[in-house]
Amino acid sequence: MGCFHLTVTSLCFVVVVVGVLPLSLDAQLDPSFYRDTCPKVHSIVREVVRNVSKKDPRMLASLIRLHFHDCFVQGCDASVLLNNTATIESEQQALPNNNSLRGLDVVNDIKTAVEQACPGVVSCADILTLASEISSILGGGPDWKVPLGRRDSLTANRTLANQNLPAPFFNLTQLKAAFAVQGLDTTDLVALSGAHTFGRAHCSFILGRLYNFSGTGKPDPTLDTTYLQQLRQICPNGGPNNLVNFDPVTPDKIDRVYFSNLQVKKGLLQSDQELFSTPGADTIPIVNRFSSDQNVFFDAFEASMIKMGNIGVLTGNKGEIRKHCNFVNKKSVELDIATVASEESSSEEGMVSSI
Ligand code: HEM
Ligand SMILES: *[C@@H]1O[C@H](CO)[C@@H](O)[C@H](O)[C@H]1NC(C)=O
Ligand SMILES: *[C@@H]1O[C@H](CO)[C@@H](O)[C@H](O)[C@H]1NC(C)=O
Ligand SMILES: *[C@@H]1O[C@H](CO)[C@@H](O)[C@H](O)[C@H]1NC(C)=O
Ligand SMILES: *[C@@H]1O[C@H](CO)[C@@H](O)[C@H](O)[C@H]1NC(C)=O
Ligand SMILES: *[C@@H]1O[C@H](CO)[C@@H](O)[C@H](O)[C@H]1NC(C)=O
Ligand SMILES: *[C@@H]1O[C@H](CO)[C@@H](O)[C@H](O)[C@H]1NC(C)=O
Repeated sequence: MGCFHLTVTSLCFVVVVVGVLPLSLDAQLDPSFYRDTCPKVHSIVREVVRNVSKKDPRMLASLIRLHFHDCFVQGCDASVLLNNTATIESEQQALPNNNSLRGLDVVNDIKTAVEQACPGVVSCADILTLASEISSILGGGPDWKVPLGRRDSLTANRTLANQNLPAPFFNLTQLKAAFAVQGLDTTDLVALSGAHTFGRAHCSFILGRLYNFSGTGKPDPTLDTTYLQQLRQICPNGGPNNLVNFDPVTPDKIDRVYFSNLQVKKGLLQSDQELFSTPGADTIPIVNRFSSDQNVFFDAFEASMIKMGNIGVLTGNKGEIRKHCNFVNKKSVELDIATVASEESSSEEGMVSSI
């Protein structure tokens, strides 16, 4: 109200400027960041991802999820890639990640290829972001210019991963809250949930919906009964480890079918179906728009992926450019020394035995 009143205009102006400041710092990211230092980075990442996806089409989905799980925990800083060490409690064993994250080895292959071309220049956080955009293209989704220049964290936080990553049994209120913490709005929630247009889930995440929803002894009423029977075939009661396609229609493609599935009660997770089946929700018209026009979904997906990729980034001289994505550089040096030492000792043994 007050912002339109002349006498308080300058006060509102100050508030607005302060509020916008963190965003303009994020804007230090730049699609041409590696133009001089690693001009081929996009094509290198693309070649590795394309090679892997020929044998394993699901990897495109796994790489996008890895980026999401990075960004929601202390920002897009590759913290999710850090392994357990004496000082790091890896996020990889957080509840939403344990036995579920995929693609760590692919990221390491990308890093090796990129290091060969331009050593010490490209961050693991940028590799995750580039791999996500490339996975979108290869999955039939939109392409976009990826803002770059992220640096890698020196820390990880498993507690924060457990706290920040949304759960598949969240209702709409909880989903919106989890996204709001990251500065993401309701449109971002719906657009980014559209990533569940491809990939797989473990049956463990839907057994409740299929056999005993919220302790009712009955299935989730917002689940189509034919689809329910199909899912029960794939996921027998008490069988948590099988995999089920997110999209029964086009399982490996990014398209608007995810949203038309929601309209006919064929969302896989409760968190998916909540977007359409929560009575009176403001997400329903968004689902309808994305379902009726794929270009509208693609434009929104692109915008929200860029927004997600900007969360809490480290730039300038913050963090570091990791040599190995699973370890901070200090630790990598120790491991290098250990490798050299063991090579030296084995070559000494070789000399001794040859005498
Ligand atoms: C809205 C809240 C979300 C919840 C509750 C959620 C939950 C899940 C769960 C439980 C799985 C299955 C994991 C498994 O069984 O191993 C999954 C998979 C997946 N998620 Fe989400 N997710 C959400 C949002 C997102 C977002 C924002 C993205 C990316 C932009 C995303 C991308 C994916 C992809 C691509 C897969 C398939 C991964 C694969 O096949 O390896 N999800 N998600
Ligand atoms: C990708 O596959 C092609 C054909 O098999 C191969 O020549 C090339 O070296 C591979 N590239 C990478 C980066 O793995
Ligand atoms: C890092 O941990 C993952 C499991 O979380 C494991 O697969 C990988 O081999 C580890 N990487 C290294 C370099 O030790
Ligand atoms: C992660 O999964 C492994 C293998 O199933 C299990 O032994 C371990 O306890 C789990 N870790 C955590 C922190 O839950
Ligand atoms: C990790 O996150 C938790 C939960 O937000 C926070 O209390 C804790 O201070 C963080 N730990 C580190 C080392 O940053
Ligand atoms: C969503 O779940 C939370 C926590 O269980 C609960 O407090 C809230 O009332 C639920 N919201 C709706 C709309 O059901
Ligand atoms: C469903 O879950 C509730 C609460 O966890 C439990 O008390 C009940 O026995 C379960 N019902 C069936 C049919 O498994």
